[in-house]
Amino acid sequence: MKLRVTKLIIFAAALIPLGRLAWKGFHDGLGANPIEVITHSTGDWTLILILTTLSITPLRRLTRQYWLIGIRRMVGLFAFFYAFLHFLTYIWLDKFFDLHEMLKDIAKRKFITVGFTAFVLLIPLAATSTAWAIRRLGGKNWQRLHRLIYATAILGVIHYLWLVKADKRKPLEYGAILSVLLLYRVVVWAMEKRTQGRTPVAAPSPAEMTKA
Ligand code: HEM
Repeated sequence: MKLRVTKLIIFAAALIPLGRLAWKGFHDGLGANPIEVITHSTGDWTLILILTTLSITPLRRLTRQYWLIGIRRMVGLFAFFYAFLHFLTYIWLDKFFDLHEMLKDIAKRKFITVGFTAFVLLIPLAATSTAWAIRRLGGKNWQRLHRLIYATAILGVIHYLWLVKADKRKPLEYGAILSVLLLYRVVVWAMEKRTQGRTPVAAPSPAEMTKA
């Protein structure tokens, strides 16, 4: 019951950025450069949701709130949803589906190449988020594949760092949060190695992973 209500609240909250954009869009509130506003908002929310997804496991372990695993998949899928909107804004509103122009851009502008790679890496994660995919792959393989989220997060931060010209504070803040999350993983991994065979750290079972 608690999980269901929490998921409903998170679902509604995750739609707020899109709702705000739609509201502004229909009320002339997107300013002189609406494409820029949409690109920035969807890009920001993609990164925020990727970092949120990555922080769920540490939070779950540190607070012993094990039910948190039940919301990870939903948050991850929302990260993909905003990444897709971000990409769609680029290919549709910015480039008008001009494939030649897009390929040129992807090859020429470093930050686009990196952003595009980050997006491509998210696709297999979203595609294998179902209970069926987890069963087919097996828990271990599924977990191995889903480590791609770290690569996506790193590339997402680099994408942001490379695209801003002057004030790098915001991408650096995201980078700092990501560094803490990565450091946490390294520490847990090192501790698990040391205590291997004695007290393994509880990892979510495939059954737990499909709860969301
Ligand atoms: C997981 C994938 C991605 C993440 C996390 C991401 C994240 C971001 C972020 C945080 C921003 C800056 C937002 C701001 O200024 O507040 C941004 C801007 C942008 N992104 Fe992405 N992005 C991703 C993928 C892509 C892809 C696939 C493309 C296009 C092929 C793309 C094109 C752009 C463009 C054109 C901008 C605006 C650049 C400018 O203002 O000059 N991004 N992105």
